[in-house]
Amino acid sequence: MDPRKQAEAVQIASAASGRHYRDSIPMIASENILSPLVAKAIQGDLHGRYAEGLPGKRYYQGCDDFDTIESIGIESARRVFGCRFANIQSISGTVSNMGALKALAKPGDTITAVSTADGGHISHHPMGAVGMRGLNLVTYPWDEARMEPDVDAACALIREEEPELALFGQSVILFPIPLQEMADAAHEVGAKVMYDGAHVLGLIAGGHFQDPLQEGADVMTGSSHKTFPGPQGGFVLSDSEDETLQKKLNNAIFPGVCSSYHLHHVAGKVVALAEFEAFGADYARDIVANAKALGAALAAEGFDVLAEERGYTSSHQVLTRHGGPDSGAGKRAARTLEDCGIITNMNMLPGDTKAMSGPSGLRLGTPELTRVGMGTDEMQDVARFFSRALIEEDDAASVRADVSEFKSRFQIVHYALEQGPAYPGL
Ligand SMILES: Cc1ncc(COP(=O)(O)O)c(C=O)c1O
Repeated sequence: MDPRKQAEAVQIASAASGRHYRDSIPMIASENILSPLVAKAIQGDLHGRYAEGLPGKRYYQGCDDFDTIESIGIESARRVFGCRFANIQSISGTVSNMGALKALAKPGDTITAVSTADGGHISHHPMGAVGMRGLNLVTYPWDEARMEPDVDAACALIREEEPELALFGQSVILFPIPLQEMADAAHEVGAKVMYDGAHVLGLIAGGHFQDPLQEGADVMTGSSHKTFPGPQGGFVLSDSEDETLQKKLNNAIFPGVCSSYHLHHVAGKVVALAEFEAFGADYARDIVANAKALGAALAAEGFDVLAEERGYTSSHQVLTRHGGPDSGAGKRAARTLEDCGIITNMNMLPGDTKAMSGPSGLRLGTPELTRVGMGTDEMQDVARFFSRALIEEDDAASVRADVSEFKSRFQIVHYALEQGPAYPGL
């Protein structure tokens, strides 16, 4: 391709993608948008720099100013997550998990975790980080009705398998899990306990989910860009006083799994931490309130929303079922919705066995809608659009036009120190 055309093609597609999200109802549960100040922080000179090591202990010169940023960020992360130890270097949730697995287990060890079919993440699987660390995976028995590990059976499994590491946390996550009891069983057999809070980190920090580090988890990992609304990146957190563990965790990130750790994104995380200290509790509260309202509104429209008896959700996610197991109805629904300007993802539900081709469900998230200022009233409007798209089968172009008009009222980033456009530069 002609070099200039190649560069132009990127500009054109990237602007088109921005317009697509600007004019749509974006409901991917793992996504969020940047505040103006965070966007500014990630655009500076730091993006080309290196700072291997920790503040004050660097392998390169030139890091003094960045040391200030990272030191402020570590302190802020300790406050935000209410813990003694924070590493803010990891470049993603997956990399945080790779680091934590390196620190907490060695090749050949046994790990217990949630299966991917039940909502565990691919990094908990032999195909991902667990496999790369050479760990032997045993998955928890699952309570499909409650969408959480079957606690008694999971405790029995942990006592029988005596793993070196018990890992908890999911990508499909509607409710807090009874962590303390399972963590106690793990500690009883000498295992360390890790909680992967990638999705729910902002809800945890905002005080509107559970608090894994106070419920038995020795280490918590997570992404910095999902319900925690920062730039793409990760955290590794612990409330342990054990300095050997803290050192192991730091070493597992650098030199373990990162060399450069994308300093501009660390700078963005530190600004996001500041904004979270100011607005995080309100943001977390509103995300969950919106998800609950969305679940109820979709059910009122006639959709099959999971976990009705538990109030549909206590997180940022809502799950809907669109056909029988492996019917592929979730995939078809996601496509129809996108034609109508609503961006979601198909998802496996209890009973589905085919991950890519045939899921029957959708996973819906409220973090971005909340961040652009939608409240529980707007969740009724969103449910109405779902109904027009999937039940009434209205003309897609006409629904899309109405979605775009509706969305035009929600174009500013909220819960931020400076107000600005949610979808800038278009
Ligand atoms: C539970 C869980 N862990 C880890 C990750 C990976 O996070 P990242 O995309 O930041 O690598 C995800 C991603 O959605 C997740 O759901």
